[in-house]
Amino acid sequence: MTAEILDGKRIAAEIRAEVAEEVEKTRFALKRPFHPCLVAVLVGEDPASQVYVRNKQRACEKAGIEGRTHRLPVDATQQQLMDLVQQLNEDPSVHGILVQLPLPKTGGGDSGFDERAVLDAIDPLKDVDAFSPVNVGLLMQGRARFLPCTPHGIVQLLHRSQISVAGKHVVVVGRSDIVGKPMAMMLAQRNSSCGRDVANATVTIAHSRTEDLGAMCRSADCLIAAVGVPEMIQGDMIKPGAVVIDVGINRVDGRLVGDVAFEQAKQVASAITPVPGGVGPLTIAMLLHNTVLAAKLQLP
Ligand code: GUN
Repeated sequence: MTAEILDGKRIAAEIRAEVAEEVEKTRFALKRPFHPCLVAVLVGEDPASQVYVRNKQRACEKAGIEGRTHRLPVDATQQQLMDLVQQLNEDPSVHGILVQLPLPKTGGGDSGFDERAVLDAIDPLKDVDAFSPVNVGLLMQGRARFLPCTPHGIVQLLHRSQISVAGKHVVVVGRSDIVGKPMAMMLAQRNSSCGRDVANATVTIAHSRTEDLGAMCRSADCLIAAVGVPEMIQGDMIKPGAVVIDVGINRVDGRLVGDVAFEQAKQVASAITPVPGGVGPLTIAMLLHNTVLAAKLQLP
């Protein structure tokens, strides 16, 4: 079997076009200015973070969203960062705030940045990453306002590829706050932003302490790898015919590789996302979606 390659880039382009159309439609319906604005906060000089933020800003501009970037030096203090977040919270021209993670290990004063405190300080109505406790809580209760971008992108990818997970066993490898935990919650719920076919799954969260990870992964009808370990999921850990979603973006010898050994996996799976060009582009598309939603929620 050779797997169908799930083209995240194409689906992301489709969603971005829909977001741009939504901006136009809202502008027309309101008959007054509607200028969604996303501000990315970038602390330090990490090259990967700089690329991510630049890509987010470019994508905003193409969708009719204003994208701004606030830079703080690598030796900024926690207070400077908190003050900036507060200033953006109070600025009515800003609808979405994104603090690019990870924060540098060196700044924030003697004990480093308190990332949690920074995320907690973002106004939940401007929290387009959906990382704040209010938005995480709403998601847990099945009444989310903003869905976290990467898991929401995966839901969209599955739906638009006509892949149902209802009643199936989904194994999510990884328990991060950004991907693993919200992904598991979203697929286990009764309904999703795309209906009941990309919900109602039986979900297991596996992680570095899971005993016999191979057997656990082989029991998955849909395997979602979000661990950040290059090619950790080998071909023999995949059930024949399973759907494999690779969230990993790892740089190895200057090359981007996922958490899944792609060449092996595509011989076993029925469908698989590539790296790059799979889940990555969808994260940005859903960020744009959330920014427009935030701007609408903040209309005076
Ligand atoms: N770093 C890696 N992924 C993300 C993300 O989705 N949001 C933010 N703010 N930082 C990240």
